[in-house]
Amino acid sequence: MDDDQTRHQQDLQDGYDTVASEYAQRIADELDYKPFDRELLDRFAARLRDRGPVCDLGCGPGHVAHYLHQRGAQAFGLDLSPEMVAQARALFPQVEYRTGTMRALDAPDNAWAGIAAFYSIIHIPHAEVTGVLRELRRVLQPDGLLLVAFHIGNETVHIDEWWGYDVSLDFFFFERAEMEGYLREAGFVIEQSQERPPYEDVEHPSRRAYILARKPAQPG
Ligand SMILES: C[S@@+](CC[C@H](N)C(=O)[O-])C[C@H]1O[C@@H](n2cnc3c(N)ncnc32)[C@H](O)[C@@H]1O
Repeated sequence: MDDDQTRHQQDLQDGYDTVASEYAQRIADELDYKPFDRELLDRFAARLRDRGPVCDLGCGPGHVAHYLHQRGAQAFGLDLSPEMVAQARALFPQVEYRTGTMRALDAPDNAWAGIAAFYSIIHIPHAEVTGVLRELRRVLQPDGLLLVAFHIGNETVHIDEWWGYDVSLDFFFFERAEMEGYLREAGFVIEQSQERPPYEDVEHPSRRAYILARKPAQPG
């Protein structure tokens, strides 16, 4: 990583460390109110059962990892923020967690059956997304699946304050076709690409995209 990327990643870690407890209190039960997300995760877990480790990448308080674990996937959580990982361990101790960065995963090639990256790619600048997706592809098994969720748009939202806490965080929005392009560039095949409106009173009022991509068994 260059100096800018290192500083950006430190801001992310500091920001999420700062809001981790508040984030967990507000967000950890959100799947109860998101039937669209639950259905996608149900199908994702069913396809990955007995196939090996499934990473909830940028797991925050761990609710997606826990949901996948309950549905029989060998799920674990990984997050940049040690405080987020601490929240996840306290809330959902049945699941294993580790700290790390999606930019350089501490895993061998072809190791994981699946990756669910819910609203974590939103912290990677547009120009760096393809490189990060290549890293995700590296650790996936042939025929491994990636389910990526993000906010649709072309804006970058910078915040210096979140729920009353001082942070310095950038949120990158992506067009769906743009993310599909990054995925193809990184060597993935798109299996399904969907979008939905926001759930009112449950989440930030942005349109959401969910793309299911597969690492081809044979290099394309
Ligand atoms: C908006 S939160 C989403 C958390 C959870 N997936 C959810 O859907 O609520 C983004 C999460 O991604 C993590 N994150 C940001 N950049 C990361 C990176 N480079 N590697 C791993 N995790 C990262 C943050 O620490 C934070 O927990």
